[in-house]
Amino acid sequence: MTTKPLRLGVNVDHVATIRNARGGPRPDPVRAALLAIEAGADGITAHLREDRRHITDADMARLKAAISKPLNFEMAATGQMLDIALATAPHAVCLVPEKRTERTTEGGLDVIGGHDYLAPYVDQLTRGGVRVSLFIEPSPESIDAAVSIKAPVVELHTGAWCHAVEVGDLALADREFARVQEAAAYAGGRGLEVHAGHGLDYDTARRVSALPQIVELNIGHFLVGEAVFVGLAEAIRRMRQAMEEGRAAAG
Ligand code: PXP
Repeated sequence: MTTKPLRLGVNVDHVATIRNARGGPRPDPVRAALLAIEAGADGITAHLREDRRHITDADMARLKAAISKPLNFEMAATGQMLDIALATAPHAVCLVPEKRTERTTEGGLDVIGGHDYLAPYVDQLTRGGVRVSLFIEPSPESIDAAVSIKAPVVELHTGAWCHAVEVGDLALADREFARVQEAAAYAGGRGLEVHAGHGLDYDTARRVSALPQIVELNIGHFLVGEAVFVGLAEAIRRMRQAMEEGRAAAG
């Protein structure tokens, strides 16, 4: 069996976070997106949060106009975001949960309790020509709910696994990785396109790349952090290398 190619979506939110710390125009997330593509990114991901803490409406419009690769627009399922997404016409939308007090997207969408609420968003975006993914916990129940909401794609939340690795809790990390692995196989079996993201670094990206159902990783914070030390282009090249090494192990 030939393994499907694995795409890298580079999330430029935290370039905007640094820019906004000073309130001026630099560093520009659009410049980072263009550089990321030159260095091997297959797409650009940006999250327009309701509080606009990093990416702004203008950034999203500029990204769409400037980049030659697919734009993945992350957003909460709200009426305002739906209007902006339909007007922006990105390649893809990833629906994520959002709480104003969280530092980052802390858990997956409540696709079970939120089924009736989310389904019309998926429907309208799909009819608008946008490929919709749901950012979910790696569990069979969430995957079944995503299928019933008629989302074609799920992005498995790797945050719990990556956090366990980071704090050195190896037993928990093994259990969390097993959840991601089982969820990827289950989602693939249910006919969904499978993505993964959150908290990935070179090592965890290498490991998750070995799961053959996963065809896209979305990575931001680690790459922007590494860019401080080795530059963004080099960080992306190293990430691609790690992904290819992992993929080779997928058989
Ligand atoms: N995928 C989704 C759906 C996210 O919300 C985020 C964080 O914005 C990422 C991927 C990227 O996570 P990180 O910045 O930790 O690499």
